[in-house]
Amino acid sequence: MSAPLIVLLPGDGVGPEIVAAARRVLERVGAFEFTEEVVGGASIDAHGMALTEQVLDACREADAVLLGAVGGPKWDSTDPDAPRPEQGLLGLRKGLGLYANLRPVHPSPALVGASPLREERIRGTDLLVVRELTGGIYFGDRGREADRAHDTCVYTAAEIERIAGTAFDAAAGRRGRVTSVDKANVLETSRLWRETVDRVAAGYPRVELDHMLVDNAAMQLVAAPARFDVILTENMFGDILSDEAAMLTGSLGMLPSASLGDGGPGVFEPVHGSAPDIAGKGIANPLATILSAALMLRHGVGMPGAASAIEEAVEAALARGIRTPDLAPVESEVPPMSDLPGEVAVGTEEMTDAVLAELQVSDEPL
Ligand code: IPM
Ligand code: MG
Repeated sequence: MSAPLIVLLPGDGVGPEIVAAARRVLERVGAFEFTEEVVGGASIDAHGMALTEQVLDACREADAVLLGAVGGPKWDSTDPDAPRPEQGLLGLRKGLGLYANLRPVHPSPALVGASPLREERIRGTDLLVVRELTGGIYFGDRGREADRAHDTCVYTAAEIERIAGTAFDAAAGRRGRVTSVDKANVLETSRLWRETVDRVAAGYPRVELDHMLVDNAAMQLVAAPARFDVILTENMFGDILSDEAAMLTGSLGMLPSASLGDGGPGVFEPVHGSAPDIAGKGIANPLATILSAALMLRHGVGMPGAASAIEEAVEAALARGIRTPDLAPVESEVPPMSDLPGEVAVGTEEMTDAVLAELQVSDEPL
């Protein structure tokens, strides 16, 4: 079998640093062919647009795409005609048909002290956000006249059906519960969402379904996160709720994601952004990208053993107390850790070294 072809899209800000870190880990667990392309602000600088047809084609021909982050103050503008880095990401999602965004939230036992929530709240949390990624208000008609602007939220039953299928399939292999999040008390798209999800649920008698309004879901996520198994929701609600859910893991720097379509290459990327304030300082947390690389191995190139090995190595490095600055507990809230070695604050490279040191690579192919 030839080596899987991976397109690396480092993007902007801390993107190049964290993608380089993930590449080191990938090189340890298998043989891959890597090519690197520009996207986001880097592509705007080079080509005047956030995603070129050539880069999209390169991604289409790959087995999987590993992306860092896009965006930064340099390209911020309220001019509707100015190119925006985020168009690169959205163009990639649409262009590759990646309608299903999976964001697993499973706080590391070593990091409960790093979450702003109390340990007893977080304990037992193991949830998966299944976010619809190519519809809704992100892609509806929009426009601006002098002092009026609009963005339209549109969903078809077919779009809802396929993402609901993803969520129910996932739940069937987990704890068997889907919470579908909408705003059906106000939005027409949400009422179609609810009806369609009910219809899909009928085909999964073993999976329990409940519906929750998005404002309540935002509250429940911090009040009782362990009650969730799979959260199924539309594009913008999923964007917001997944950032909120990330804080259950201690830092936005911990959350990986997989964006999948029907069989073509997926895009694997950390949920966090380009963090321009710390770009180039060598202190970005590479773990969300390393964990995204693990998701890529599992969902993108059929190497589940290597994926688990990476996830275990991350856990082991954290258990040894290795921490990037975003994971350091707030001084006054340091939990008692009498039987643990002291936490060691490190940069991107040392954290990656720590993961590599824990990686159990056998001679057998993983
Ligand atoms: C995400 C990001 C993107 C989104 C931005 C960068 C367009 O926030 O992946 O969650 O809103 O989808
Ligand atoms: Mg987001």
